[in-house]
Amino acid sequence: MEDLKYDGTERLAVDYVEGILQPTPTCDTWDQIWNFQARPDDLLISTYPKAGTTWTQEIVDLIQNEGDIDRSQRAPTHERFPFIEWKIPGMESGLEQANAMPSPRILKTHLPIHLLPPSFLEKNCKIIYVARNPKDSMVSYYHFHRMNKGLPAPGTWEEYFESFLAGDVCWGSWYEHVKGWWDAKDQHRILYLFYEDMKRNPKHEILKLAEFIGKSLDDKVLDKIVHYSSFDVMKQNPMANYTSIPAPLMNHSISPFMRKGAVGDWKNHFTVAQNERFDEDHKRKMTDTTLTSHIRFL
Ligand code: A3P
Repeated sequence: MEDLKYDGTERLAVDYVEGILQPTPTCDTWDQIWNFQARPDDLLISTYPKAGTTWTQEIVDLIQNEGDIDRSQRAPTHERFPFIEWKIPGMESGLEQANAMPSPRILKTHLPIHLLPPSFLEKNCKIIYVARNPKDSMVSYYHFHRMNKGLPAPGTWEEYFESFLAGDVCWGSWYEHVKGWWDAKDQHRILYLFYEDMKRNPKHEILKLAEFIGKSLDDKVLDKIVHYSSFDVMKQNPMANYTSIPAPLMNHSISPFMRKGAVGDWKNHFTVAQNERFDEDHKRKMTDTTLTSHIRFL
């Protein structure tokens, strides 16, 4: 598998790592990923897919560069922030990118906490976790599967709805992911944010991020960061909108990566019956966590 050059015409196959569905190349190199050596000054951005990872990466980069958009546009998102478990045959893997990158590094993962390479917590790295409500996450993930050959075909919306509820999608169950990271947040240096808060009051959440990173921002820089990290500006930014990924792999004409960037788009997808089924399932899966009141569907 490792020697095959992936040309994007077929979808990547998937398999399981400890019960969590992953693209096969990630499964095949799992030992290396698990043994990844974090450095104490690494900053890790962790999310369940489609929670606003790219948005958070852009904000963090702009904070580090004090709102200097030219510096933030030095390279596309997937090169600026190595995605540690990302592996596509014939392309530089996340691990290779990370190992070649000088410190301080900003890294990305979608791994649930129990699959996080242990060195991140052993080295006490700072970690930013972003959660997004599961209904919008599901809709966003469905459209992402449609356009991205690095993931399995989603099937119909009805089929995908069932796969998502069953947690039988890449990176596993939304519930296990957000709850696992929530439980870890008080024992480690984890800043836990919500997509919906970032939408409602971006300035406030940017300031939280800056404080966590250890940067102070004056009003002018803060305004610049709000502007350059807004959905409309990022959608036009070729270094932040994933159009630099080869078209056979990500086809933006099927569904753009920067799709809607909204809260509540699930209402355009869920039927009344699906919504009732979802709410019942959600209630059951959220009984054992204090995270419940923070998840808002709007
Ligand atoms: P939608 O598909 O709902 O539009 P990730 O980066 O984790 O893959 O998440 C992608 C989702 O975040 C997409 O959601 C994308 O549009 C949204 N997004 C990206 N940048 C954003 C921004 N600046 N503001 C709001 N949402 C953003």
